[in-house]
Amino acid sequence: MGLTKPHKRLLITGADGQLGCALREESVQFSNYEFVFATKKMLDITSKASIQNVIEAHKPDIIINTAAYTAVDAAEKDSDAAYALNQEAVRLLAEVCDQNAIALIHISTDYVFDGMASIAYTEEVVPNPQTVYGKSKLAGEQAIQALDTLTYAIIRTSWLYSAYGHNFYKTMIRLGKERETVSVVDDQYGIPTLANDLAKAILQLVTTLGYAHRGIYHYSNSGKATWYAFAKAIFESLEMETKVLPVSSEAFPTVATRPKNSILNCTKIVDTFGVSRPLWNEALQHII
Ligand SMILES: NC(=O)c1ccc[n+]([C@@H]2O[C@H](COP(=O)([O-])OP(=O)(O)OC[C@H]3O[C@@H](n4cnc5c(N)ncnc54)[C@H](OP(=O)(O)O)[C@@H]3O)[C@@H](O)[C@H]2O)c1
Repeated sequence: MGLTKPHKRLLITGADGQLGCALREESVQFSNYEFVFATKKMLDITSKASIQNVIEAHKPDIIINTAAYTAVDAAEKDSDAAYALNQEAVRLLAEVCDQNAIALIHISTDYVFDGMASIAYTEEVVPNPQTVYGKSKLAGEQAIQALDTLTYAIIRTSWLYSAYGHNFYKTMIRLGKERETVSVVDDQYGIPTLANDLAKAILQLVTTLGYAHRGIYHYSNSGKATWYAFAKAIFESLEMETKVLPVSSEAFPTVATRPKNSILNCTKIVDTFGVSRPLWNEALQHII
């Protein structure tokens, strides 16, 4: 049940989002695939009819689901909306994939963990989400895993950024233009992940993904940072003179608790699919 035939057709949901845009950019390097980029307007994954219509029209071999409810703080007050997209819509999509022998690549998050571990999280660590966002994303993972005949890969990532959408990189650039000094948290650890590097890894993985590969995989760039270190590197890369002040998490109370440790151990995806993980601070120099 390997998926190695040429001209596989890939359908990307949430195509206007951050990762969707990165996949669109990287798709030019993968001429052996046909791509269908489905924006929310074209495909609403909360609607079974919408999913079925788009599948009927485009007959994809693989669906890459980047659509999600990603507003971590807003989710605390709007859990119905978070679960509707991150659990129920994922269940619908996975069931339709299963019924039509379509493989599913789904994106998840380090927020499924409690962030209290002292070492990097492997796929074997039992999740313990502390936020509505994390709980809803875990519920989505479980909906996929419940389908015994589905070919799937769930890829958890962390600290995603790019030139598109809302993310830390863009927030720092905006603040850096407005202020001389920016205070940034220095006691939360993670690995910034350039959306284009994740997109490349996903498209590389698609080449060999088969039923035997069903499972969860972690992917991020490599190295280690705090938000403070990330902010400093962003300003340096852009030759901005903004000063960065390290502060503790207590200085920045948020509605949803942020994990202290977001570092994912990515050995499994490298060993299984041979994807590359550039150092996060080198990846930062390649942002488009
Ligand atoms: N950002 C991070 O730091 C981070 C970290 C770890 C994991 N992740 C995961 O990575 C994945 C991609 O994240 P991202 O940053 O690319 O997210 P994003 O920029 O928020 O993109 C999500 C896209 O989904 C669309 N969407 C919303 N509701 C939809 C629906 N009913 N049907 C179809 N599309 C819908 C959104 O459209 P509208 O904007 O028009 O609503 C948006 O274009 C998500 O699964 C996320 O949970 C993200």
